[in-house]
Amino acid sequence: MTQAAPRPAARPGRNDPCWCGSGQKYKKCHLESDDHGATRPRVRLARPPLRPGVVGPLREVPASIPRPDYAATGRPKAGGRDVRTPEEIERLRRACRAAARVLRIGGAAVAPGVTTDALDALCHEETVRLGGYPSPLNYRGFPKSICTSVNEVICHGIPDSRTLEEGDLVNLDITVFLDGMHGDCSATFLVGQVDEAGQRLVRVARECLERGISAVRPGLPVSAIGAAIEPHASRHGFGVVRDYCGHGIGDTFHTALQIPHHLDPRARRLMEVSMTFTIEPMITEGAWEAGLWPDGWTAVTADGRRSAQFEHTLLVTPGGAEILTVE
Ligand code: MF3
Ligand code: CO
Ligand code: CO
Repeated sequence: MTQAAPRPAARPGRNDPCWCGSGQKYKKCHLESDDHGATRPRVRLARPPLRPGVVGPLREVPASIPRPDYAATGRPKAGGRDVRTPEEIERLRRACRAAARVLRIGGAAVAPGVTTDALDALCHEETVRLGGYPSPLNYRGFPKSICTSVNEVICHGIPDSRTLEEGDLVNLDITVFLDGMHGDCSATFLVGQVDEAGQRLVRVARECLERGISAVRPGLPVSAIGAAIEPHASRHGFGVVRDYCGHGIGDTFHTALQIPHHLDPRARRLMEVSMTFTIEPMITEGAWEAGLWPDGWTAVTADGRRSAQFEHTLLVTPGGAEILTVE
């Protein structure tokens, strides 16, 4: 996702754990900064908040595998076009196909007792085996090869030592750099038996992506995508995250083009044939507002309720959209 500054919305009691998941008391953590933000009533949660685990050492990528510009420095070059040549589209197709394969393999390994770090290892190995570089690795300093976002984590969760538990939701977000292009996709998986409300959240999140894709048409503004997504989420009483958007993608992981998933009339850029971008709605059980863990990456719902997400990389065609992140 590309990111606007997230801000918290729920207010725990002064001595309760902070909403951000830091484990510190609210008064020691975000209380002061929240005085300047919006507030919402507290919600009683079925589970204790997620806590950060231990993040393992950096994984190696063989020297023979071509790397994106930021791999050594952590700093991606700015820029990148959003309309691609037929030759670029062919290369992007290969990167996207690889990402879809890695997502399928990672998803098949989701089970109670598996650590998110084990999923990172598996996806890393498969990416490298395909001759790809795992795009998240050292992207703006991100320390792992995939993102794993559990329950109230909206996106950009860092794989760590925590084991998945029966009833969890986990999103795996896979981006592969191959043939000079980034292919980006994600899906939310159910860990064992998940309650009805969680199943509905995941189903609606998938439908929101489908509706967003159906709204793609050259000549329409990109705001048509959020206009198709938001009413579907609202109808189910769910929120649409605003602080993270879809993005233009190609030889650059995130171009300047932003695709909001809520209705944002300011998103006036017109879709064009051969444009490539992601749609990746993050749908919340409750409020859409986000907070950020002290690790600077893990985005969580401000009210602690769950979030689910699905993502594809798309190509704008004369008749609509083609999904590139398929095998
Ligand atoms: N794959 C994510 C997206 O959909 C971006 C992850 S960036 C990372 O845009 F650094 F967190 F990996
Ligand atoms: Co993306
Ligand atoms: Co992604």
